[in-house]
Amino acid sequence: MEHVPLPKSLSRGSTIAAVGAAGAALVWVVYSTRKASSGKEKAKNGPRAAPDVPDSTWTQVAKLSGGQGPFNLLAYARQMGSSVFRLNLGVVKAYVITGAEIADFLALPPMDKPQITYAKLNGFTGGPNILTLNGHEWSHRRKGVAHAFSDKHIKRMGRICVDHMTRWCGEVGDEAEFDIADEMLKLTFAMIIETSFDYELTDKEAQEFLTNMELGTAEYFGQTSDFARFFRHSVAWWFLPSVRRADRAVLDMRRSCMDMIQKWRQKTTPTEGTILAGILGNKSYKDDEERISDMILLLLAGHDTTAYSISWILYFLAKHPDELKILQMALDRADPTAHPKTVPELVRVVTEAMRLMPSAALGGARLTNQDFVAGDILVPKKSLVFCCPYIFQRSANVFERPDDFIPSRWESPTTDMTKCFAPFLRGSRNCVGQSLAKEETYQCAAMIVQKFDLEILTESPPTYCVTIKPVDTRLRIRRRQGLSC
Ligand code: HEM
Repeated sequence: MEHVPLPKSLSRGSTIAAVGAAGAALVWVVYSTRKASSGKEKAKNGPRAAPDVPDSTWTQVAKLSGGQGPFNLLAYARQMGSSVFRLNLGVVKAYVITGAEIADFLALPPMDKPQITYAKLNGFTGGPNILTLNGHEWSHRRKGVAHAFSDKHIKRMGRICVDHMTRWCGEVGDEAEFDIADEMLKLTFAMIIETSFDYELTDKEAQEFLTNMELGTAEYFGQTSDFARFFRHSVAWWFLPSVRRADRAVLDMRRSCMDMIQKWRQKTTPTEGTILAGILGNKSYKDDEERISDMILLLLAGHDTTAYSISWILYFLAKHPDELKILQMALDRADPTAHPKTVPELVRVVTEAMRLMPSAALGGARLTNQDFVAGDILVPKKSLVFCCPYIFQRSANVFERPDDFIPSRWESPTTDMTKCFAPFLRGSRNCVGQSLAKEETYQCAAMIVQKFDLEILTESPPTYCVTIKPVDTRLRIRRRQGLSC
């Protein structure tokens, strides 16, 4: 083939360009090799995208929606091994923050709750509520109840909890066996009704309410997808008695709440500063229907979370007799008039149990209104982020032996450990009822542990449906020698 010579100017230009390009490539190779060898310099390069979970959307939805959701999510977090990873749940793509960066994330300016993830809860309570609303409606409702959780009212509620516990300790006698979750549910439900709703339920009413809550939560939160729930509640409603039963249960709860409202309004001197007083005195609700949605939400949020927290504390102590002994001796030594929260051994046990089994295991979801960088990974503005205590509280980068019950790790926690402990989350949408939850938890745990020895008789793997619950776990308690209520 004939060689066609290039014009001289072009040929010279190409040679210069080729030499220039080769030089630039060499500089780039040397530069990028040096950068890659330094982690710090790599971060200067700008954050990278979050890695995606390699499973199909279908597999992710199936693994995360059922009763094993938190456990499967933790397995994903460990498999991905990064500070943030991304889930693909079909319509929803969600980021999950796995370590101490969660504290900085929750400290960002107020973020909204993504409505797509809270629709189930609206169905259960019969309408939007404090936990699911955003903006003015939310802030008016939250302000209305916040007063009920002030120090003054918590002291009053604490006294009611102690009365309940003293009665309970007397009634169980010297030895008793019970399903730990059921027993604690009964206790905390009676407490929230009296402390916060200024109402005394008969045992029968309490049992009916608890059964209705269970039926409602199983139906509204137990479905694997929004589509399945929609299908059950529309097309299949006539053929599925369980759906009709659940809907009846929600209606029954609404009727019971209406009874409470009417009885409260007939009182000449209702107790001041209760949750119910806060809801009924709040003019920002349009009508009682809206008030009832918040009552149901607060009854749900206010009893099973606390019941399971206490259950898990007793469970771990029964499984670790050495820790139980240490705590019993500390409680025996403590000033009986002092608040149980002043006993450091108890604080460490409660913290460690709530770290391992945060009852609201999947926490909450937030919609970011700015970019956020966790480690070297970008969570872009307008992303949906899951803040899951069950994940970040078991971070292997932060906690040694992250799955073991070791209360002494809290004697001198690192900064990252403190950042990673947030069972009530943090920021403007943290748990408004946490002061009551802590009061009940400390009072109940202290009294049971000081008076009784504990033994687990049977247990099954835990399950998750809104909260993480011990299943078929029976506890035997035996009064300690020389102690009476
Ligand atoms: C150990 C017990 C408890 C735990 C672990 C817990 C945990 C949480 C968590 C993680 C959130 C945030 C949910 C989200 O972002 O979607 C939350 C919110 C909330 N909790 Fe609790 N909670 C407990 C007890 C209580 C109690 C006793 C009450 C009231 C009587 C309560 C009422 C609420 C309410 C109303 C919200 C919504 C707050 C808002 O969005 O402004 N919780 N809780």
